[in-house]
Amino acid sequence: MKLARNVYKPLAIGAPAPYRVLPMRLERMIHFVPPQIEKLRAKVPELARKVDVVLGNLEDAIPADAKEAARAGLIEMARATEFGSTGLWTRINALNSPWALDDILEIVAAVGDKLDVIMLPKVDGPWDIHYLDQLLAQLEAKHAIRKPILIHAILETAEGVKNVEAIAASSPRMHGMSLGPADLAASRAMKTTRVGGGHPDYKVLADPADGGARAAFQQDLWHYTLGKMVDACAANGVKPFYGPFGDFSDAEGCEAQFRNAFLMGCAGAWSLHPSQIAIAKRVFSPDPAEVAFARKILAAMPEGTGAVMIDGKMQDDATWKQAKVMVDLARLVAEKDPELAAKYSL
Ligand code: GLV
Ligand code: MG
Repeated sequence: MKLARNVYKPLAIGAPAPYRVLPMRLERMIHFVPPQIEKLRAKVPELARKVDVVLGNLEDAIPADAKEAARAGLIEMARATEFGSTGLWTRINALNSPWALDDILEIVAAVGDKLDVIMLPKVDGPWDIHYLDQLLAQLEAKHAIRKPILIHAILETAEGVKNVEAIAASSPRMHGMSLGPADLAASRAMKTTRVGGGHPDYKVLADPADGGARAAFQQDLWHYTLGKMVDACAANGVKPFYGPFGDFSDAEGCEAQFRNAFLMGCAGAWSLHPSQIAIAKRVFSPDPAEVAFARKILAAMPEGTGAVMIDGKMQDDATWKQAKVMVDLARLVAEKDPELAAKYSL
């Protein structure tokens, strides 16, 4: 294992030093754009004002014969857009595909200075991150990139889930991780045909009551994986995200799935359809009433220690820390969103 003092040395002479602390950014929704489609590319400047992250997708859902056009489109949209505080990410093709190497070489050479994060699909273990980490350092040095490009892993193989802690700890270049429920379902041989969300047959039946119908409660298929991923990320100071929700007609189901992820500690989710932008914004911005209560806790315990009662509820050092998470997030949201800033009175 590497000596701790060497972890933050650049992996190539001339590459920028890795971040010791991740930049604080609001990333409630990672909005996917197919960059080979000119009509959608033209909307990116307007989109960048509405979302927290714009992601040019090069991987699944982009047809094999459009892979090069998507890569060129991503470069074009990166050059043509002023992103301001909105993040610019790309999802490259998997490392074992015929396109990954050129994705990395061409994109970093052309727009490495504008790109914040590379999303890497089908990460099986820390070795995938180490490969990309080293290659990015060499390219950053070669192209005189001034800030490190971060890596975001998709957790979507059974082997990746087995190695999730090692992936989260693999490099200071790690930004975070997203649950990829569609590929993970396939990798595990789950008997489903959905992209995220629940399944009506995954349920628990109440005990039989005398003659009456038995109540059935649908369970969350993703709870175990999400919990494991959130702990791995939190323990290593990187950010967890829910991934895609493929049924665009089920806004309620999408909102419920995103909300469970938010409550469990996730920072955001993917939006694959414009209708999901508002859902993610609603879910991943803390509720004004919760923020108001959290501010009461902070005000009642200025030192962050001791015990007080507020509205009949016991508060102590631990609830102070929870309140701080909520208020810190509200401040980050308020910087971007004047309407919510007013609701939070910030
Ligand atoms: C996302 O890439 C997924 O497979 O769910
Ligand atoms: Mg996938």
